[in-house]
Amino acid sequence: MSHAVANTDNWAEVKAACTEFLPEHIIAYIEQNAKTTHSESQLIAILHLVQGHFGYLGKDQMHAVAQLAQIPFAKVTGVATFYHYFRLQPRGKHIINVCLGTACYVKGADKLSTRLMDELGIQFGETTKDKMFSLESTRCLGTCGLAPVIMVDDQVYGPVSPAEASLILEKYLKKGKSQKAAEAAKV
Ligand code: FES
Repeated sequence: MSHAVANTDNWAEVKAACTEFLPEHIIAYIEQNAKTTHSESQLIAILHLVQGHFGYLGKDQMHAVAQLAQIPFAKVTGVATFYHYFRLQPRGKHIINVCLGTACYVKGADKLSTRLMDELGIQFGETTKDKMFSLESTRCLGTCGLAPVIMVDDQVYGPVSPAEASLILEKYLKKGKSQKAAEAAKV
């Protein structure tokens, strides 16, 4: 895709090019709002739609938003990087959330975090190369009695020692392998 900012003369062309990167409903939403001035809150709403659809904000998607909304690409990336809830990378198959709330912290969430980072070879906010795990942090999962707590997808584990964290990772890796084997056997 050409990343040149489009002008209004070739709107149909721009729209056609953008359909490669954005679904119809998001293009329609941007078009609906095209006659009003694009405030930051509108741009945030658009980026939420994009992230809701793809799980993250890809470069091509942000270029398409900039072209359709007729705003500079730098403004789109500026907003996307300013707000921490926007993700610029695809997430892994499993999302590990480490609770860094007070109760978990005093019970060793820092050691737990270090172990997970070492095992996975990533920092908070990153995804493993095999796209298996994303590591994120959160504040109080509401299960302080189990501190320190981690949540993998929607399953809460606690109290978790660093050694147990490794076992939990292994469990998900094994599950992934057996799923792959089962899929391969079907072919
Ligand atoms: S502080 Fe971790 S669950 Fe409340």
